[in-house]
Amino acid sequence: MLVSGFDLAQLAENAAQRGRQLLSDLQTYLERDYERRGLPDFGIEKAADLIGCTSQHLRDKEGDGTLPPPRTARVGSLDRRVYNYNEMSQIRRLLKRDTSRPTSCARLIFSNLKGGVGKTSHALHLSHYAAREGLRVLMVDLDPQATLTTAFGLVPGLNVGADEDIGPSLTADPELIRRSIKRTRWDDIDLVPAQLSLQYTDWQMLQARDDDRQRLGPLPQRLRRALEHVADRYDLIVMDTPPALGMLSLNAIAAADMILMPITPNFYDIASSVQYFAIVSQLASTYANALRVRQLSLLMTRTDSAPETRTNMTLLNKAYGEFLLTNRMPQTRELQRATGDQMSLYEIEVPRGARETYLKAIDAMNAVNAEIMQHVWQVWRAAELNSPTEARHGE
Ligand SMILES: Nc1ncnc2c1ncn2[C@@H]1O[C@H](COP(=O)(O)OP(=O)(O)O)[C@@H](O)[C@H]1O
Ligand SMILES: [Mg+2]
Repeated sequence: MLVSGFDLAQLAENAAQRGRQLLSDLQTYLERDYERRGLPDFGIEKAADLIGCTSQHLRDKEGDGTLPPPRTARVGSLDRRVYNYNEMSQIRRLLKRDTSRPTSCARLIFSNLKGGVGKTSHALHLSHYAAREGLRVLMVDLDPQATLTTAFGLVPGLNVGADEDIGPSLTADPELIRRSIKRTRWDDIDLVPAQLSLQYTDWQMLQARDDDRQRLGPLPQRLRRALEHVADRYDLIVMDTPPALGMLSLNAIAAADMILMPITPNFYDIASSVQYFAIVSQLASTYANALRVRQLSLLMTRTDSAPETRTNMTLLNKAYGEFLLTNRMPQTRELQRATGDQMSLYEIEVPRGARETYLKAIDAMNAVNAEIMQHVWQVWRAAELNSPTEARHGE
């Protein structure tokens, strides 16, 4: 239908103006929501447990002024001491309990050609787990879908600026990574956020002029070079990758000491794992000199007790036995709900469903993360053996 006097330019301009207002309202709302959520509080027993001391020791140290006076929260008629993960970090430092930290930085990626297998969820939970243990973590979101970025309350296009993802460090200057690192509500976790425009980074990298190529170095090693500028600030760098093996994922593989591949025990995911290994094998032989990966582990995720799943798990065990982590992550509504609310299981104060379901989920997640961390310690130890005198900057 033709409408006389229809002015597309005016209409689009009005729509754009309304859209900008909508975004700004949305931002205010999201920021308020994010601030309100903060990190969960817990009691002195859990605090002592995380630090590895008795609760009496914490009370004594608070009493003699080594530690600041605790916050308290009223429970019934009692004032109970409460702590959060950031205060734990501070307490560890004040009690000098952070000496078991590694002397180098281990880099780890979660990778799979498939989406929906738990890459982002496990990258997030491993990082939270490591930070709870007192380690300093840099997360790098390499997925243009930016699920990890939103899990930290950042909204691409709203509070991630045009040049604040990893793109410029790969296409213009590796040192630009310093500008893209954002602090999160976890004092010990920083984040390089992602946004949709990262889609073009693969293409941009391939377009680089010859002189730029010389300056920036070989295509697959750009991310590793960028990370080298900041690695001395962190114990662990955890990278989340898109469900594809393009230039971004290849750079992540070339930057990694360890590849973690979450896999769900269903037919299509098993089939795609075969393709994944075939492509990785090709990439690894093409770029043999660019790789430093020491470990490839498969993590079975979203398992359940259906007969078909069990059969597939047995087959996976047979095929990939020595690569498979012993612990696996079952399908659980607690994780689904938590990630739906942009949180991790470690950030939940009150379980959404039955407490027992929550405890089961967190036990399984802890077991998975503890096993991954054992492998990460092997990487740290190997680095120490190779360069025992390596010292961190700024310490
Ligand atoms: N063990 C699990 N139990 C229940 N839901 C899960 C589990 N692992 C992942 N999910 C859910 O599956 C969806 C995809 O997970 P995600 O970690 O984003 O996968 P990927 O990064 O591989 O695409 C998310 O909604 C997440 O909550
Ligand atoms: Mg993801």
